[in-house]
Amino acid sequence: MMENIYCFCAILLVTFSHLGRCVPVQNGDNSFDYLLFDQHWPITECLHWKGLNDSNYCSLPKEPNAFNVHGLWPTKTGTTGPHSCSSQPKFDRKALDPILTRLKQRWMNVHGGTDDYSFWAHEWNKHGTCAKVLEPFNTEVKYFNSTLDLNSFYDIYGALTDYGITPGDQFYAIDDILTAIMRKFGKTPQIYCIFSGKQAQLHSVKLCFDKNINLIDCSSVGVKARNCEDRKTLRYLRKLPGGKW
Ligand SMILES: *[C@@H]1O[C@H](CO)[C@@H](O)[C@H](O)[C@H]1NC(C)=O
Ligand SMILES: *[C@@H]1O[C@H](CO)[C@@H](O)[C@H](O)[C@H]1NC(C)=O
Repeated sequence: MMENIYCFCAILLVTFSHLGRCVPVQNGDNSFDYLLFDQHWPITECLHWKGLNDSNYCSLPKEPNAFNVHGLWPTKTGTTGPHSCSSQPKFDRKALDPILTRLKQRWMNVHGGTDDYSFWAHEWNKHGTCAKVLEPFNTEVKYFNSTLDLNSFYDIYGALTDYGITPGDQFYAIDDILTAIMRKFGKTPQIYCIFSGKQAQLHSVKLCFDKNINLIDCSSVGVKARNCEDRKTLRYLRKLPGGKW
């Protein structure tokens, strides 16, 4: 149903393009082609966060065994966004009460000393208000809970482990990481690295979904498989260098 309204809106946009806007939409063109699902490895996100400021610290589980949701982002091919599609409904922290345990486990805020809700409010305001035209995401709690379902189903840690890729000190071929994900889920992801010194670190794995929430090849929407500069190998950290977070 929401999908139909959405399509109708797109037709209006074409029909009345001389008016320069689609009537029900507030801030220009909020249409998108696919959903980019970003899940990061919490240890690497911590490394990134600490790298931003010496006084930053992290809030992490002792032995992470799952990738953590960063967000689910409606995206127009060839660009980023749309972003912040509407100012309503406003983020309501109480709406998340029924799924709080689950959120804290898998959509955790790694950034120590910062408010969990400010992270979730940011994701809702910037991305959820755009995703809500799709039925599985059409309320705040559904946006978060449906995305958590994707995190459980598309278990990156499990896919890597099945292929013999586990966190540690060794280097892994980026191609092997790609193969592990392809074998498990059958579609091309994007591997995203951050750098500590010259070393590439596995930071996140992005998956792409169409608007019916079917997994699709990220390559089919122009999302490249490797986002690790020119590196062929990376590390998948079990703990922070120095051991402290
Ligand atoms: C790092 O964090 C401290 C404490 O919050 C702050 O005073 C300082 O300005 C920050 N430094 C940078 C470079 O952002
Ligand atoms: C969240 O999702 C889980 C698993 O799909 C489901 O069992 C639960 O009822 C959902 N909770 C809410 C509040 O929608």
